[in-house]
Amino acid sequence: MTDATDAAAGNGEEATAVGETAVGGTASSVRLREMRWWDIEPVLALEHELFPEDAWSPAMFWSELAHARGSRATRHYVVATEPSGAGGRIVGYAGLAAAGGLGDVQTIAAARDRWGTGLGSRLLTDLLQHATAFECEEVLLEVRVDNPRAQRLYERFGFEPIGFRRGYYQPGNVDALVMRLHMKNHQGTEIHG
Ligand SMILES: CC(C)(COP(=O)(O)OP(=O)(O)OC[C@H]1O[C@@H](n2cnc3c(N)ncnc32)[C@H](O)[C@@H]1OP(=O)(O)O)[C@@H](O)C(=O)NCCC(=O)NCCS
Repeated sequence: MTDATDAAAGNGEEATAVGETAVGGTASSVRLREMRWWDIEPVLALEHELFPEDAWSPAMFWSELAHARGSRATRHYVVATEPSGAGGRIVGYAGLAAAGGLGDVQTIAAARDRWGTGLGSRLLTDLLQHATAFECEEVLLEVRVDNPRAQRLYERFGFEPIGFRRGYYQPGNVDALVMRLHMKNHQGTEIHG
């Protein structure tokens, strides 16, 4: 058990709002908190809207969250919610896996009506803060080659392309671009790089 792992794992529901002051527009009213099992259903609804061809199953989210708490946690999952006065809707989510100094962005998504408000940047900032807490030296991710919007987001944070995984996304047989960030090159929590 390390302090870093504890810090990454022990973020209760109240504590994870980050970047609130750095973003203008509608995203500033959105709050980040730890994703819990009761969030799986609304997250799945967004998942099917945003990844119609290769949506995760409920079992995949359950399995990820099973490793997201306690001193041996290897996952961090976050949801973005509207204020309860505005309905408390979940408008984004993201997840990180970390082991042996290596992090992996497992998923990241913002509701379509929130695109361009900085929410994707806030979610990624939160994952990278937790990658630091998990003592990751580098963070990898896969992104569809036909998803330039997401690729631009990652590039702004310093991720660099390092290769392809052919046919990674099934059943559409779409290639993945693999990108890597050396955490020593990560400049902190800037929202617009
Ligand atoms: C990829 C994704 C997470 C990006 O989320 P997002 O909330 O649109 O991301 P951001 O708002 O931080 O950045 C997107 C753009 O908005 C701009 N932007 C950010 N904050 C802004 C603001 N307050 N006002 C105006 N524009 C803003 C950014 O400059 C950026 O522009 P650029 O891409 O032309 O450089 C989102 O499009 C998504 O969920 N897509 C579907 C799921 C997906 O593909 N996930 C990635 C899987 S690998």
